Amino acid sequence: MDYSSLARKYGTPLYVYDFNEIQKNFIALKEVFAARKSLVCFAIKANSNLSVLKFLSDLGSGFDCVSIGELRRALYVGAKSYKIIFSGVGKQDGELEFALKSDILLINLESEAEMLRLERIAQKLNKPARISIRVNPNVDAKTHPYISTGLNENKFGVNIETARKMYIYAKKSKFLNPVGIHFHIGSQLTDISPICDAAKIVSDLLRELRALEIDIKFFDVGGGIGIRYEDEKQIVLYDYAQGILKSLSGLDVTIVCEPGRFIAGAAGVFLTRVLYEKQNCGKRFVIVDGAMNDLIRPSLYGAHHAIEIIGASEGINLNEPDASEVNLGSRGEDQTSGSDADQKNLGGVNLAETSLCDVVGPICESGDFLAKGVSLPSLQSGDLLAIKSAGAYGFSMSSNYNTRCRAAEVAVYDGQDRLIRKRESFDELIALEKDLV
Ligand code: LLP
Repeated sequence: MDYSSLARKYGTPLYVYDFNEIQKNFIALKEVFAARKSLVCFAIKANSNLSVLKFLSDLGSGFDCVSIGELRRALYVGAKSYKIIFSGVGKQDGELEFALKSDILLINLESEAEMLRLERIAQKLNKPARISIRVNPNVDAKTHPYISTGLNENKFGVNIETARKMYIYAKKSKFLNPVGIHFHIGSQLTDISPICDAAKIVSDLLRELRALEIDIKFFDVGGGIGIRYEDEKQIVLYDYAQGILKSLSGLDVTIVCEPGRFIAGAAGVFLTRVLYEKQNCGKRFVIVDGAMNDLIRPSLYGAHHAIEIIGASEGINLNEPDASEVNLGSRGEDQTSGSDADQKNLGGVNLAETSLCDVVGPICESGDFLAKGVSLPSLQSGDLLAIKSAGAYGFSMSSNYNTRCRAAEVAVYDGQDRLIRKRESFDELIALEKDLV
């Protein structure tokens, strides 16, 4: 992909998504469950851009929503209500009511209190609710503590005993229809064994419920499949599916999964340009125009995103996206040790001589960095960097901190690029507070 031209055309900072890659990932997941009835529900929180959702919806994807806003996004792009599920630990009355009226496939409940609340709302609307209960199987997903969700100490779901009680209650209720069972033990998982353990625990409960004539039809395994940011082990999709299927042998259920990162993560890059280089008492900083408000994962989780040097600038005017730039094509960090003279010095970036630096943004926080302690060649104003694997939890977690307008988003499909979110303007940013008191 020609990141250089895209940066020139749309400016930076910029998110670029490869829709062919999104499509490939969606199909791979769908195919691995082909032998069974299955529903892939993309987790909107990972990337909520409407064009991304529309593209996935057209491929046949369903959606996992965690707020009325996400639910409305799904409906806005024409998603089928019978392919939408609604999860989340703290749904409000208005959200539950909207979900019920929208006739979505499943409302995933996460507490007894929420179940009783939904029952009352369903009674008021005289519309029984199709529900699923999020079971916390108490398995360690072995991921970052902030994105681990399947242990008793986490706020999510209910334990097996409570779930059992809730199902028995729901079965007797005129306004609750328990048809699903759900778990999600964490995100960025690199090993299938915690998922298999969880699937076994939850499928055992499902069998018990069937014996009580509670007819669970949907087995929702959540999301969580990790991607390779650095050198992580990667889950083999076939093994993942087999591990889940093994626990379901003899059971006729539809498998639901809620992938976010797996579908969109590796399909996106975040493009940012170098503003300055500086040394503070011997410590080197590369200051770029993207910041933690655009991509918060490094600051929040200490997450690693590989950096690719796309090209050197030649007197580029940073304020004008169309300013001229030498396009050097893609050059990965691994080329820095190449011995070929041309490789060592391309367009002013001497790739052979690298040194450690932090890549930081303009925000007034020491925690504002995109990478720490990485080895990069000497860079100049206007040089373009691609922060890799930024398609999930990138733009969707961005903010206006420091009154920075949010980045633009671009989709590339079959070689054609299209702006799918305009760069935010200052007027748009202040629109809701313009009436001064
Ligand atoms: N289903 C449920 C109920 C979830 O809570 C999540 C993610 C997913 C599905 C999708 O998980 P995925 O397939 O993307 O791993 N901001 C963090 C990730 C937070 C994940 C929250 N829940 C990050 O940037 O790593």
